[in-house]
Amino acid sequence: MCGIVGYIGKKNAVDIIMSGLHRLEYRGYDSAGVAVIRNGSLDCVKSVGKLVKMDEKLKQNPLDSPLGIGHTRWATHGVPSEVNSHPHFDNDMEIAVVHNGIIENYQELREELKKGGANFRSQTDTETIAHLVRKYYQGDLFAAVKRALQDVEGAYAIGVVCKKNPDVMVAARHGSPLIVGLGDGEAFIASDVPAIMKYTRKVLYIDNGQVCEIRRDGYKIEDLKGNPVTLEVKTVDWDDSAAEKEGYPHFMLKEINQQPDVIKNTLRGRVTEGSDTVQLPDMQVTEQELKDLKKIVIVSCGTAWHAGLVGKYLLEKFAQVPVEVDIASEYRYRDPIVYPNTMVIPVTQSGETADTLEAIRVAKKKGAKVVSIVNVVGSSIARESHGVIYTQAGPEIGVASTKAYTSQITAFALFTIWLGETRGVLSKAQGREMIAHLRAIPDKIQWVLDHQEEVIRCSKDPKYLNAQSALYLGRSYNFPSALEGALKLKEISYIHAEGYGAGEMKHGPIALVTDELPVVCVATKGDTYDKMVSNIQEIRARSGIVLSVATEGDEAIKNHSADVLYIPECYEPFSPIVVAVPLQLFAYYVATNRGCDVDQPRNLAKSVTVE
Ligand code: G6P
Repeated sequence: MCGIVGYIGKKNAVDIIMSGLHRLEYRGYDSAGVAVIRNGSLDCVKSVGKLVKMDEKLKQNPLDSPLGIGHTRWATHGVPSEVNSHPHFDNDMEIAVVHNGIIENYQELREELKKGGANFRSQTDTETIAHLVRKYYQGDLFAAVKRALQDVEGAYAIGVVCKKNPDVMVAARHGSPLIVGLGDGEAFIASDVPAIMKYTRKVLYIDNGQVCEIRRDGYKIEDLKGNPVTLEVKTVDWDDSAAEKEGYPHFMLKEINQQPDVIKNTLRGRVTEGSDTVQLPDMQVTEQELKDLKKIVIVSCGTAWHAGLVGKYLLEKFAQVPVEVDIASEYRYRDPIVYPNTMVIPVTQSGETADTLEAIRVAKKKGAKVVSIVNVVGSSIARESHGVIYTQAGPEIGVASTKAYTSQITAFALFTIWLGETRGVLSKAQGREMIAHLRAIPDKIQWVLDHQEEVIRCSKDPKYLNAQSALYLGRSYNFPSALEGALKLKEISYIHAEGYGAGEMKHGPIALVTDELPVVCVATKGDTYDKMVSNIQEIRARSGIVLSVATEGDEAIKNHSADVLYIPECYEPFSPIVVAVPLQLFAYYVATNRGCDVDQPRNLAKSVTVE
C-alpha cells in the first residue's frame, strides 16, 4: 500500500517520478504528492484523488529539478487530504519524507517531538519521521536518517531529501518493499520494479534494517548502526510492455486475456513435453522431506486464499497429505500448533502482504518448513521462505487479481503431481496424464476468451447489471471458484456478492432467493454435477435467477437456467483454472457497464502491506 518513487540524476525528476507513480497507482490512489530540491529550495505539489489530478496540477505549476521524491497514498492515519498526503516536512520545510508502512510508536514520538518544538501539520504517522530526521540532522542526511530510524517502531520504506543536500537522496526499509535502481549518472528508488523498468534493469533489493545513501555517481548501504552492507546488483528481465495496457481499456482485461500465456509460463521449465514428472528445484525440499511430510498448512489472503482452497482439494486427493487452509491474519494471532514435518505454504502475488509475511514468521519460529507460491521475484515472502515456487505470471497491475490466481492454482497442481508421485500415491502414468491435462489448460482458457459474446450480453442484462446482491454457488473443486467469483464481482462492481458451498445453501442463503437474486452456479461436468443440478432446481423453484457456468455441450442445463456461460470439457480437478475466466469476465463487464473503475476499485489496494 502506498507507492514511493524517487530520482536523482540529470533529467527532470518530476517526469520520472510521475511516470513511476502511474505504474504504482495500484498501491493506492487517494492522494499524491511530489517534492523536489531546486536552486536551494524545496518545492512541493500535492493533490487529492487519483494521479490524473496531479498531472493537471503539474501542468499548471510545472516543477523541474534533478532530485525529487513522490508518493501515491492509501490512507491509514488521517483522511485523504492535501495536508495528509506525502511528502511530509520538518518545521522549516527543509527535509521531505515519503513513506509506505505504519509507524507504530508515532503517538509517543509525536508528543516528544512536539515538546521539542515540532509543529505538526498533518494527522499522519509519517510526519514524525520528518521531524525526527530534523532532530538528528547536523549536515549529514544519511547519518540523521540512520539515527532517527533507531527511534522508530513499525514498518517503513522511506525516501528522504533535504534542501541543504542537493546531491543526496536517502532511502531505508523495514518491512515495506523498497528497491534502488541504478542508471548511468542517475539512480532511482521505488516500491516496486515496474515504476523504474523504463529507465533501468539494474536493481538493488534493499533489506530490512538497511539505509542507502544515493548519489548521482554511486551509493552506499549501511545498517542503522553504521555497519556497511554489500548487496548484489540484480538484473530484472521483465518486459517493459508488461507495465502498459497494450491497447486494452484496462489492465484487468489485459491480464484476463493473458492467461493462456501465463499458464504456459507457469508450466515452463517445470514440465516438458511427454514427461511424467515435475521439476521444482527452487522449492529446496528433498524427496525425503516430501515423504516424511505429515501436514501442509496454506496461509494467504484474498484471492490467494481461494487459490489455497483449491490447493487443498488437489493435495489431499492426489498426495494424501492433510491440508489446512488458513487466512493469514487469523493464523498469525492464533498460536497455531506446528507439529514436526509440517510444511507451510504462503500463497501471494505481491510477496509483500503484511499478514502473510507475519504468518510465515510465526510458522518458521515454530519449526515449519516454509515454501511459498509467489509471483514477485525477490519479494519479502520469497526471501523469507526456505523455498519458492514462482508463479511466473509477470507483473499484475489490476487491483482485482486474475492471472495471479490461475497461475497459483497451476503451481499447486504442479506441486501436487510431484508430491503425489514422490509419496507413491500417483503412478508415473497418472502423473503423465495429469501433466497432459495441465498442458491442455491454456487452449481451454483461449476457447473461453474466444467465446465472450454470451458473457458480454449477460453483463448488459438489467437483471444482473442492476442487481443489489448476488449469490455464487459451487461444490468440490469449484467451491473456491464460487468464493472467488463472488469476490471479483463485489470488488469491482460494488454489488454485494457471497460465495457458498452449494450444499450449504439450505443452511441459510436460500432464505435470500427471490426473483431479484442472481445466483451464479458453477455446474461443470464432474462428480458433483447432479447435486449441483438439484440445487439449481431448488433455486428455480423459488424464482431465483440462475446463471450457470457449465460444460460445452450440456444443453440440458439450459432448461434450469436463465442463462448459461460455457467452458470447454475439462479435467475436473483442474477445472477451477478455466472456470475462473468466465467469472472474471462477468465481473469485469458488469463493473465497466456500471461505470466503475475496475483497475482502481474504491478503497482497495493491490498490495496490502499494513494489517
Ligand atoms: C489484496 C488484493 C487481492 C489479493 C490480496 C492478497 O486484497 O486486492 O487481489 O488477492 O491482497 O495479496 P497477495 O499479494 O498476497 O496475493
